[in-house]
Amino acid sequence: MLTSRLFQGDAVLQAIADDKDRMSRHRHALGQPTRKIQTALLTWRADALPKFGADGQYGNETAAAVLRFKTEELGVAPDDAIDDVGPRTVIRLDQIQAASETPPASAAFVRRDVWTLQSAAPWDPMTIAYAKAVRRMQARPASDPTSWAFQAAIHATFRAPAHPLWNGCQHASWFFLPWHRMYLFFFEKIVRAAVLADGGPADFALPYWNYDQPNPRNTLPLPFRESTLPDGTPNPLSLAPGLRDAGIAAGAQLRPEDTSSTAAMNSTVFTGPAGTTFGGPRSAAVIFDGGFGMLERQPHNAIHVVVGGPRPGTATDCTIAQMTEPRCAALDPIFWLHHANIDRLWNRWLDQGGGRANPSDAAWLGQRFSFADDTGSTVQLSVADVLDTAAQLRYVYDDRPAFTPPPPIVVPVRGGRTELIGATEEVVALTDRVTVPLAIPASNRSLFFDLAQGVSDVFLSVENIEADHNPGVVFDVLLNQPDKGSDARRHRVGSFTLFGIELMNDLDLDHEGAPGMRHTFDVGEIVSGLAALDLWNPDTITVTIEPVAPPAPPGEAQRSIEELVLSPVRVGRISLFAQERSDLVS
Ligand code: C2O
Repeated sequence: MLTSRLFQGDAVLQAIADDKDRMSRHRHALGQPTRKIQTALLTWRADALPKFGADGQYGNETAAAVLRFKTEELGVAPDDAIDDVGPRTVIRLDQIQAASETPPASAAFVRRDVWTLQSAAPWDPMTIAYAKAVRRMQARPASDPTSWAFQAAIHATFRAPAHPLWNGCQHASWFFLPWHRMYLFFFEKIVRAAVLADGGPADFALPYWNYDQPNPRNTLPLPFRESTLPDGTPNPLSLAPGLRDAGIAAGAQLRPEDTSSTAAMNSTVFTGPAGTTFGGPRSAAVIFDGGFGMLERQPHNAIHVVVGGPRPGTATDCTIAQMTEPRCAALDPIFWLHHANIDRLWNRWLDQGGGRANPSDAAWLGQRFSFADDTGSTVQLSVADVLDTAAQLRYVYDDRPAFTPPPPIVVPVRGGRTELIGATEEVVALTDRVTVPLAIPASNRSLFFDLAQGVSDVFLSVENIEADHNPGVVFDVLLNQPDKGSDARRHRVGSFTLFGIELMNDLDLDHEGAPGMRHTFDVGEIVSGLAALDLWNPDTITVTIEPVAPPAPPGEAQRSIEELVLSPVRVGRISLFAQERSDLVS
């Protein structure tokens, strides 16, 4: 059913949506339905029809605008696009039109940027309400599903025996985004009920922390650093020393390398091999299975580890570095603002168009997860229930209140044949900065030629990462960097952390595939960039992995990585492999 007021009830447009008719220069070229399509095209891009506007005639200008819509918005390859109007075009234009008709945020809760709420002062009514609700929930016994302890345990917990709703978090998985969306949705309901009980704002919605902004927004929000609330009572949002990284707790800035979501947002595919797509690889619905999606790896995992800070390998509880350990992370009240931001970025990603869409696989859409709601009863949602936050869950984000996601699509399988180009030969121990050579047999050199010709993509994979514990630092990965610090931008592949490694290697949890974490990065642009500068010689390829020291508290000297006793990390292999481009595979 078409839903915009403009399209609703139009028989021609409905028939096109049902794939029973089309519109082109030769069919339905004149009249109201054409004018409606043109009007929606103008809603999409104000400059779509510069000469004739919505004149009700399907001429060359309209045909060109439809082509542009198909390539830019639907992600159709330019060679495959035809300048007529079919079902996908009508349905997507209808959604865009409907979103523009809806008055912003009507009847919806608005999740706001926490730094905007605060403007100058450390406190604002929304964050005070959150703090008081946290306190109220913390006072409830762990057996109460609406308590702070129970809610955190739904994510993961050291507590035993475990309640059936506990240890449910979905990581290293294509369920990462929808599971955390559901988790936040019910948590927010519980918080809102507590806010209401305290006489707080009835429109309470969880704020988000967008750390990918300049100072001071890339520092821990002020209410999380104040020792008391404005009324002088203890502030549950600020934690005891040690529970967060000391530098972050004191207001140190996060690195742009850790806060940036650009790499993830640039991906146009939701699911595919680990590390190469926005939302993560297909996986079973068990805790920490498979490999990471790009948004999950960064900024998600990086923020966990940097905010939590290093965690000694001997720690077996939540008395230190909470955000670093999935079994403690949701005990830190900042966890929920971090995840609201990740959830917002999922909407923003879809909003960019270019063919970005959620998968239509039944295994994804139909997967159900259980949580507790604000009455303490067990509730279930399926992934298909949470794709449109405004319509299905009644909340929106302040940066794009009128947003409707495009319909799910069959996700194209990325890449054809995969070939190993070269790999390291020995296990690498990650203590301090290490640089290892990557041997490329002469027989594989031609693969770089394919790369240069655009025939294949090239990936770098850090494989079989093993550690008993996450050391709680970020590792930077660099390709062919001559020495520390030189031209980091040109050589930088990305970063990874070991967030969740304890759970990933737990053989009691029955995972598919072998244990051992892996992080894969698309290095096509770096390789061609280096080649263009004559800095790419297949005889002398090196990979550098460098642990990053946690940020120093403002005004203090930077700690060096050698001063930290990191729990040992080993990398089984680092490999470079080429993958044929899928669009060239017939
Ligand atoms: Cu399930 Cu950010 O963690």
